[in-house]
Amino acid sequence: MKATKLAEGVYWVGAIDWNLRDYHGYTLPGTTYNAYLITGEKNVLIDTTYPGFENQMLERIKDVIDPLKIDYVVANHVEMDHSGGLPKITKMLPGVPIYCTQLGVEGFGRHYDTKDWNFHVVKTGDTLPLGGGKTLVFVEAPMLHWPDSMFTYLAEDEILFPNDAFGQHIASSERFDDEFGVDEAMKHAQKFFANLIIPLAPKVLKKLAEVTDLKIGIKMVAPSHGVIWRKNAGGIIQAYADWSHGVSKDKVTIVYDTMHGSTTKMAQAIAEGVMEGGCQVKFCLLKDGRYEGVHRSDVVTDVLDSKAVIVGSSTLQDEYLPTVAGFMSYLRGLKPGRLTQKKKGFAFGSHGGHGGAVKLIDADLKTAGIEIFRDPIEVYYRPDESEIKLCHDAGKAIAEAVKTK
Ligand code: FEO
Repeated sequence: MKATKLAEGVYWVGAIDWNLRDYHGYTLPGTTYNAYLITGEKNVLIDTTYPGFENQMLERIKDVIDPLKIDYVVANHVEMDHSGGLPKITKMLPGVPIYCTQLGVEGFGRHYDTKDWNFHVVKTGDTLPLGGGKTLVFVEAPMLHWPDSMFTYLAEDEILFPNDAFGQHIASSERFDDEFGVDEAMKHAQKFFANLIIPLAPKVLKKLAEVTDLKIGIKMVAPSHGVIWRKNAGGIIQAYADWSHGVSKDKVTIVYDTMHGSTTKMAQAIAEGVMEGGCQVKFCLLKDGRYEGVHRSDVVTDVLDSKAVIVGSSTLQDEYLPTVAGFMSYLRGLKPGRLTQKKKGFAFGSHGGHGGAVKLIDADLKTAGIEIFRDPIEVYYRPDESEIKLCHDAGKAIAEAVKTK
């Protein structure tokens, strides 16, 4: 197996997980666990892989140096997709210094038997001179996205190793954005942000301001998943700022599930209204077994990119349909209300008995931080002509309200 050179003495030595399709509810076309090796007077391994992928990493290290010659390990993040190789590395290299945050020490201790691990706690601004004109600088990044998270910066080469931040779940033969395709890489980065980073948006903006204040050059952003940003390093950093601010298209995402088609009729009427109102529509029937549907991890990517989100469900046993319940739970957790620019929305749906789904959706939208644009639209059994018009007019009104003037 081969390593990939980023710069003189800097290599990608990670692992490709071609077969991964689900990562706690996020659909993905495989991923990579990116580990990096810096060689010179001192040899440093930055992060490792998910358990079971250590040998792929070690084979790639062997392409450059004997792994027994690693002098230091930097562990930016406790989560097992980046720390799973540490037990093997610490066994191979007893006493190897491991640089991480204090919360990293605590987190590793909850995952592994660390009593013999040689931790060196670092804080923002601490440096590790490697000799030969290479210096590592550490920047704590708590809650981006775990309490222990840290960025590492290779000063002379201007390469940032931010672990999960700026990552994408892609399994590819290409290691760099320009090889893979910058636009395609950005789409995957947007999905990654939508599914993992939205609730952290205020922290992202604070961290970006802190990094800007350091006035450091960033030629390359080398995250722990997906391709390395060498052509579009500035672009992905700006995209994180834009997404955190809630910058979006004149677009409305309609997401729903239906029992016998009445809620579909309502969704279609709303969509027609949105189009007449001048916004693009993303129409998402959640997976319900009868149609292919759209997976919630893709729906939230469209929500991030939209100025409004309209959610519908038939009522089942006084509740929403299970697909919609799952989506609303996911949306509540992501808290899009933390984006600087708030999104608008409302609830709709049909019912036979007492109803109930639209009230639950309405409450969930509020909890998620969506600004409620209007009262829910709820119809009894089948929408009649006036109710279809009501849906249409509501779609048109929300589009007119949110579109760029
Ligand atoms: Fe937070 Fe890729 O792990």
